[in-house]
Amino acid sequence: MKEQIEQIRQNAMKEMENVQDEKELNDIRVKYLGKKGELTALLRGMGALSEEERPIIGSLVNEVRDELETKISEKEEAYKKEELKRKLETEKIDITLPSTKVKRGSKHPLNRIIEEVEDLFVSMGYDVVDGPELETDEYCFERLNLPQGHPARDMQDSFYVTPEYLLRTQTSAVQARVMMANEEKSPIRVICPGKVYRRDDDATHSHQFAQVEGLVIDKNISLADLKGTLEIFMKKMLGENTELRFRPSYFPFTEPSYEVDVTCFKCQGKGCNLCKQTGWIELLGSGIVHPNVLKMNGYDPEKYTGFAFGTGLDRLAMFKYGITDIRLLYQNDVRFLNEFDRMD
Ligand code: DAH
Repeated sequence: MKEQIEQIRQNAMKEMENVQDEKELNDIRVKYLGKKGELTALLRGMGALSEEERPIIGSLVNEVRDELETKISEKEEAYKKEELKRKLETEKIDITLPSTKVKRGSKHPLNRIIEEVEDLFVSMGYDVVDGPELETDEYCFERLNLPQGHPARDMQDSFYVTPEYLLRTQTSAVQARVMMANEEKSPIRVICPGKVYRRDDDATHSHQFAQVEGLVIDKNISLADLKGTLEIFMKKMLGENTELRFRPSYFPFTEPSYEVDVTCFKCQGKGCNLCKQTGWIELLGSGIVHPNVLKMNGYDPEKYTGFAFGTGLDRLAMFKYGITDIRLLYQNDVRFLNEFDRMD
């Protein structure tokens, strides 16, 4: 029996010398010390021994078991240390290396302007509405008091897709849509920013550009309301010192109509190359909604009046950010767009 125990001890020790990894080590533990292990089997068989032999063999088995357990945990410990060392080495981070720059996109200058305009008007109680870019002749012209053959249609070189459909030339089209959609014919206070299209293409005109339209309809709306609103609008966008000048003009959908100039933000009205020495820059079209437009879209001109305005957002962006060629806004050249990277 004693020899058998000694044999087991030697075998286990020898196997342990050649062990390659933690898994093999565990196999040895199971083989000798596990529930069905060789040493465990010996302890189980002790009942067959004589009274005298039992304590001797018992303590011998326990001794060997302790020895094996100690050896196994030593080895295990060594493996763990090695593993930790390996990890520390391979996963080492050199905190002195320069970091890789995370490339962030930037907001397009036009979207910046649109958001700013929306925030302002929403704060004054306006709704922001949308309309289709592929528009019908009816909404783009007819319902705005511009019947077929009206000379003012020539002011806007349109892209017709069919005789009935065109790419909208002005966000004013949404005026008619909003009035028609309002079934109760209740007061309206909306702005509509969006894309419009005309057959133009040079440094100050692009075939696609952006406008924002404003429409207010209520009882007792007057020119004073229009004037006050546009003053807030322009001062907020271009600076508190901006002054406005209302010039009588003509638009088919408003009567009276005004073109609105603002003091040149570059020279503060003194005269420079940007404002062609006039000190003023033309920025908006506006007026009191024409009674025909109210009538055609279901509103009673005896009961309601309204004002409307429209302006080019590209021009606003160009003035605000000093951009000299409108086409830059549509070419998506990242070198240009990156200039707006750190603006907020
Ligand atoms: N739609 C006009 C244009 O594109 C601008 C305009 C003028 C809009 C007068 C209006 C307005 O709402 O009342 O030139």
